[in-house]
Amino acid sequence: MAEVSYVKASRVFSGNPPVRAVDELSLEVSDGEFLVLVGPSGSGKSTALRMLAGLEDVDEGAIHIGGKDVTNVPPKGRDIAMVFQSYALYPHMTVAENMGFALKLRGVPKTEIKAKVEEAAKMLDLTKYLERKPKALSGGQRQRVAMGRAIVREPSVFLMDEPLSNLDAKLRVETRANIAALQQRLGTTTIYVTHDQVEAMTMGHRVAVLKDGLLQQCDTPRALYDRPANAFVAGFIGSPAMNLKTVPITSEGAKLDGVIVPLSRAALDAAGGLDEVTFGIRPEALGIVPSGEEGMEMTVELVEELGADALVHGAVKIGDSSQRFVVRVDGRTPPTLGQHVKVAVRDHSEIHLFHPESGERLEA
Ligand SMILES: Nc1ncnc2c1ncn2[C@@H]1O[C@H](COP(=O)(O)OP(=O)(O)OP(=O)(O)O)[C@@H](O)[C@H]1O
Ligand SMILES: [Mg+2]
Repeated sequence: MAEVSYVKASRVFSGNPPVRAVDELSLEVSDGEFLVLVGPSGSGKSTALRMLAGLEDVDEGAIHIGGKDVTNVPPKGRDIAMVFQSYALYPHMTVAENMGFALKLRGVPKTEIKAKVEEAAKMLDLTKYLERKPKALSGGQRQRVAMGRAIVREPSVFLMDEPLSNLDAKLRVETRANIAALQQRLGTTTIYVTHDQVEAMTMGHRVAVLKDGLLQQCDTPRALYDRPANAFVAGFIGSPAMNLKTVPITSEGAKLDGVIVPLSRAALDAAGGLDEVTFGIRPEALGIVPSGEEGMEMTVELVEELGADALVHGAVKIGDSSQRFVVRVDGRTPPTLGQHVKVAVRDHSEIHLFHPESGERLEA
């Protein structure tokens, strides 16, 4: 087992202009931690993982595993095992042979390989498939074989790049719980890449959010949700997404559809000198209020009934434009399409303010 650190590590692909696929990434992953790298397509997740695996050059900075600088160490010398999106199982080998192959190459005695493969198969519920070839397995079983192949090597770090993307939605949810439980049990430092923020939030001890090769924030799922460092993280983490609107600000508060939403002294101070802010509020922190109360006028354009609650999408006039808001309401009493409702902030402590240009969070 080992800790991992990226020390201002960059990967720059040549081109005009050059692509800084990973840009001065600094990140410390502790021993035994499950860290998820998340971000939109092209944000540099796979590149960052491949740099750690030694499959991609580190053009600037360094990478350490277990306190040792491995920047120039070839993949074989890094004591890591990687699980890819395409499981890359050998079709002509049985499950047992696939799982034990790396050990065989290393010259581990047959009886020892057999014992390790059987132990991993037990953990992954693969015992009865050991003599089958991969083509006779379901997608979920193949995924487990790929995991098993990594486990038998007993590496100090697991690297996983979207290992669940070939599974259907239901199996993905089950498998992600299994992987998280297995990681907990083995206690092996794991770096896991996904573009799915729900997967990231449910699996990671901490989640690192990347955008355009730049680390935006790395923190626990709770902290990312409650205190996003910038408007990008605020909009990326959480489903449905946070409502983020650029609105005028006065000495009392933020102006939404003629309604002044009062802001704390600290928030007003942080926004000092700005005429506009990016105002963020999650759908569950908004609510529909009786028509006599103060609130923004919203015309309901879509109601998504989810059972326990419903998501109400609608248009609110802000200045000269019409802006879309999403409000989470009780599933038993949703408004109807086309209805005019009053929407108000239910919980003022859940207002997030960001700089209208840089997107940085305004209060500490
Ligand atoms: N070999 C390469 N040559 C040039 N550019 C590359 C190369 N590999 C990746 N890139 C670029 O680097 C950036 C990051 O790519 P990367 O594959 O790391 O993204 P990703 O976050 O894993 O995306 P996805 O979610 O789609 O897998 C992209 O802009 C990509 O086009
Ligand atoms: Mg990728």
